Amino acid sequence: MSPVATHLPPGLLSVHALPADHHDGPWDHILVPDGTKERLLSQTLLRLRHGRELRNLPGMPHGLIVLAGPPGTGKTTLARGLAQSAARALAPIGATTYIEIDPHAFPSEMLGESQRNITRLMTDTLPEFAARRPHTVVLIDEVESFAVRRSTASFGSNPVDVHRATDAVLAGVDFLAEAHPRIVFVATTNFPEAVDEAFLSRADLVLNLALPDEATIAAILRRTLAELAGMWEGVRPLVADEGLHRKLAARCAGWDGRRVRKLVLTALAQRREVALNPGLLEAGDLLTAAEATG
Ligand SMILES: Nc1ncnc2c1ncn2[C@@H]1O[C@H](COP(=O)(O)OP(=O)(O)O)[C@@H](O)[C@H]1O
Ligand SMILES: [Mg+2]
Repeated sequence: MSPVATHLPPGLLSVHALPADHHDGPWDHILVPDGTKERLLSQTLLRLRHGRELRNLPGMPHGLIVLAGPPGTGKTTLARGLAQSAARALAPIGATTYIEIDPHAFPSEMLGESQRNITRLMTDTLPEFAARRPHTVVLIDEVESFAVRRSTASFGSNPVDVHRATDAVLAGVDFLAEAHPRIVFVATTNFPEAVDEAFLSRADLVLNLALPDEATIAAILRRTLAELAGMWEGVRPLVADEGLHRKLAARCAGWDGRRVRKLVLTALAQRREVALNPGLLEAGDLLTAAEATG
């Protein structure tokens, strides 16, 4: 994704104005159980549309969604797609700013330094961006490095600094929930057990993305082959071969979605003539690749 601003404040990876056509894709790219996307989108729309009114309810929403699950299960991609989908749905009433935070920008060797940087991000930078458009979605990818669980923080890092940094994140989330009810944070984590409990307890929705089951693996393979067939017509027969998808899915049991997609790439690189002309891909290449990497 290409950011719209080139000189970004510290701690931000990128800033985008949504909806934008070139952000279509990620949402449809990830195959998850029925209902998952609807739940995510509804939670986001409720907060962005009615955050102001809901602020008056006890147990007000924090505008925080956590996507947890093993690496390669589509969390980051889904979060990006969510921002675009929400922006599309809300476009009639106003645009959306989508911001990616760089969580690795904060851990600091200097006592108190990360705390100050996080506070600046939460109380100055994000409110400034949130004032620009009616809706704001903020991705905190791999939040475990940002809101470190204080009860088990490693002694390799300065425990006092870790405490202060995590406190600053929590104070920032509380401040923004109250002051900017039209911000939604989407945090992803590969290790929910490393994320601070008080951060997780603020989430309006914690969604666990599991490893794909065999039916989903088969669907991911079919989708990936269909994408290839869009470029190389010769792949078309493999898209319709459901027996092949089932057979491969059984061999890929326990794999994450990223690895399943990579299998098709690996298959393309089994033989030189296929590498030069992917339209020559055959079922045998996929089966060999599954054996080789299984
Ligand atoms: N459920 C899925 N359906 C389709 N593709 C998937 C799925 N999970 C992962 N992938 C593939 O793996 C890639 C990496 O996913 P990513 O969003 O980076 O995962 P995570 O953030 O959970 O590590 C995606 O772009 C996609 O190609
Ligand atoms: Mg990720």
